[in-house]
Amino acid sequence: MWVPYVTVFLFVCLIVIWIMFITYSKRKNQKIYDFMASTPGPIAVPVFGNIFVLSKHLFFESKSDAWRKMRRMITPAFRNSVLWSPTHTKNFDYHTEVFLNTLKDHAKNGEKFDLLTTVHSCNLDMLCDNLLGHRVDIQKKNLSFYSKNMMRSSEIIFERFFRFLLWPKCVFSLSGMKYVMKNATKPMRSLISKIIDEKLEQKIKSEDTAITNADTLKSFIEILVDNISSGELSKQQAIVESIDLFKAGTITNSMVASWIFIILAKRPDIHQKVYEEIVEVCGQEVTLNDVSKLVYLDMVIKEALRHFTILSLLDTSKRSITLEDNTTLPAGLNIVLFIFDLHHNPEYWQKPSEFYPEHFSPVNELNRPDGVFLPFLAGPRICPGKKYSETSMKYWIAKTLLRYEFLTDEKLPDDFTTADYICTFALCPISGFQVKVQERMLKMQTTSLPPQIAYKNQTSNIPPLTSDGEQSHP
Ligand code: HEM
Repeated sequence: MWVPYVTVFLFVCLIVIWIMFITYSKRKNQKIYDFMASTPGPIAVPVFGNIFVLSKHLFFESKSDAWRKMRRMITPAFRNSVLWSPTHTKNFDYHTEVFLNTLKDHAKNGEKFDLLTTVHSCNLDMLCDNLLGHRVDIQKKNLSFYSKNMMRSSEIIFERFFRFLLWPKCVFSLSGMKYVMKNATKPMRSLISKIIDEKLEQKIKSEDTAITNADTLKSFIEILVDNISSGELSKQQAIVESIDLFKAGTITNSMVASWIFIILAKRPDIHQKVYEEIVEVCGQEVTLNDVSKLVYLDMVIKEALRHFTILSLLDTSKRSITLEDNTTLPAGLNIVLFIFDLHHNPEYWQKPSEFYPEHFSPVNELNRPDGVFLPFLAGPRICPGKKYSETSMKYWIAKTLLRYEFLTDEKLPDDFTTADYICTFALCPISGFQVKVQERMLKMQTTSLPPQIAYKNQTSNIPPLTSDGEQSHP
């Protein structure tokens, strides 16, 4: 008797899922900029409520007291003296060398490949070694699934963010995305869990033999383990914090570096200038101390950061804020910061939609008002890895460009503000980063050098590595 009703019900469900799937596929990879531009303020969506309030509760928790406590706990792990200690620098160089050898294989076979997984695997190796104190050797052992899974799970977070059909938990589960996402983070989760157990065991052993390290220069994992032992933190919280760190610290860096390589492949003028500066400043080998002298490379990195990093951020104001024009934003207001818009506002940028490193020439930097270039944010929410990111990207990119030249036949957008992107934490081109590499002759013929490199007498504003620099302590 009830069988026909169930059949009809299941049939209707199937049709609804199918319609949702088609709608979703059609809207996939829509122009993100259109979306950003079309959402100047909170929109009240019938039934669902306010788009930002809802999306905030889904994805971005307000920065609570627990966050502040956590942030205070982990910030010391990001000091230059910790992350660029001799051991950590050696680890960094080791993984860079493995990366360069991987490029050698690609150069030999001459085929194009997607650079992102290669770059990201190297970044994961570096953070595993230097923040978790564990060498996984993702690159050497060809464990690229760690990278691919992490990218996929981040992509899903943002796919859901931009497609309100996926907001209800039941639809998200039914779409199969929840399952994919859970599975994608599993390998990283279990790796981190194992590392934490191992470190806890080591800590207990070292306490037994009274060789505890009361050193103030503790690494990220030592800080987590200390706090688990003292009961301040649960193991689960430590895992979540480590996964967040890996997402925040590796996807952003890898995406920016990959953009730089593919743009250089398309722009021989910039490519040549960057290479000549590296050869002029560093000669045959790049050292950490050279980093602050690579001024043009610094401009190129900043221009990539302007275009391709975090789109927007949300939070709730804890107290009322008075703006320059005396408008008061009351406490409790949901505030959305459209960083992508800010970074492409023609009021502050001469060529907002182009890749134009001159935006960051020393004179342009001086003339631009504070607060319009915020790839790492500022204030209490500033990225704790900012200094590490700035130095490591420059050091690593310079080492790579000294040995390899990048080529591509991909078409890059003429206008970066209206291009289609895939959004993870940062923006990725729809077709990925398809490049070829060519090994350079290390000895550059000085006769091919132009008489002068435009910015060679300047120094970049990244402090030399001996200084610990100021970290934000919220
Ligand atoms: C291009 C490189 C990077 C960019 C543009 C970037 C940007 C940001 C931004 C904007 C935030 C703030 C997010 C928020 O408050 O909601 C953030 C958070 C964070 N970043 Fe970075 N980041 C980069 C690289 C790194 C690196 C290399 C590391 C690690 C070594 C790192 C570690 C973190 C951590 C742990 C957080 C979370 C902090 C917290 O919630 O307390 N980031 N990053």
